[in-house]
Amino acid sequence: MKEVKIIGTGSYAPLNIVTNDDLSKIMDTSDEWIYSRSGIRERKLSITENTSDLSTMAARRALKNANIKVVDLDLIIVATCTPDNFIPSTACIVQANIGAINATCFDISAACTGFIFGLNIATQFIKTGQSKTALVIGAETLSKVMNWEDRATCVLFGDGAGAAILNISEDKGIISIYTGSDGVKGDVLKCEANPLINPYTTSGSIHNKFVTMDGREIFKFAVKVIEKSIDEVLKNTEYSLKDVKYIVPHQANQRIIEYCSKKLNIDKDKFYMNLDVYGNTSAASIAIAFDELASKNLLNKGDKVIFVGFGGGLTWGAALISY
Ligand code: ACO
Repeated sequence: MKEVKIIGTGSYAPLNIVTNDDLSKIMDTSDEWIYSRSGIRERKLSITENTSDLSTMAARRALKNANIKVVDLDLIIVATCTPDNFIPSTACIVQANIGAINATCFDISAACTGFIFGLNIATQFIKTGQSKTALVIGAETLSKVMNWEDRATCVLFGDGAGAAILNISEDKGIISIYTGSDGVKGDVLKCEANPLINPYTTSGSIHNKFVTMDGREIFKFAVKVIEKSIDEVLKNTEYSLKDVKYIVPHQANQRIIEYCSKKLNIDKDKFYMNLDVYGNTSAASIAIAFDELASKNLLNKGDKVIFVGFGGGLTWGAALISY
């Protein structure tokens, strides 16, 4: 079995910054309400760029950071719940944009845990010899699936993309990955696709094309699976939490992380957070935060980092990596 390492990262978000005060001009909300409940001050919302455009920019930055040729990519996975189209996949559009002619490309849907699911798939491809160099992207334009009249939901989310390049390696870069799902609780966080209407259907259903969320249920679910995922990803490795320099959690809500840090007795500063300026970017959030952590030179070679995510599906998971 071969080992797998992340050799480069990149991220990109739209230039249009929307603060809580900006939102309070178009809906009945306030900086005080949003910040005290979520830790979010501002988010970036796309005006012209779709998910593939954000992905392409993040991919170009990751390629530059990894210092590899685009033709070396043999796999591109885009994790997104806001693709440009049903067909073609966002990954195929990115392939065309960057000229990755040797890559197999597909999208995956695991909501906010998508980047971890993507890392897992790419790792298995590399370990089994199907791939040598993979590009994994988490990207969203969530602003297009928000109900802008649902102030309890739309203020929490933002647009962006993060990318990582994984390569076959002598060193164990990806130490372990754990994932899980619970489809029974799928209705807790939902966004419907096209309803089933064709010449043979008789009754139309009410179509809700926007994200709906039971915030309190998500809170309870998140704190439970964050603890479980961290336990599981460390299990059967030689490492414990004290060996881990940073935990990069899905950036959904500051209060979820504060609760977990108290419950698990982990120093709050060990959780790397940037949702104050991005909001919740779903599949992109861990990838953007990890790229920021790396580009701020906060990591040294060999540092251990845990990614931990949770999201719609329901889905959850964690990855333990050596930088
Ligand atoms: N501005 C002002 N008031 C608001 C807003 C807003 N943007 N949104 C809701 N309110 C009001 C409501 O109308 C309600 O008023 P009422 O009591 O007069 O009826 C009051 O604030 C409380 O509303 P709740 O929906 O009960 O808000 P809650 O205090 O539960 O907070 C929140 C909502 C922040 C989403 C909370 O449930 C939470 O922290 N959830 C955690 C999950 C999360 O963050 N999910 C998002 C990501 S999902 C994911 O990434 C997997």
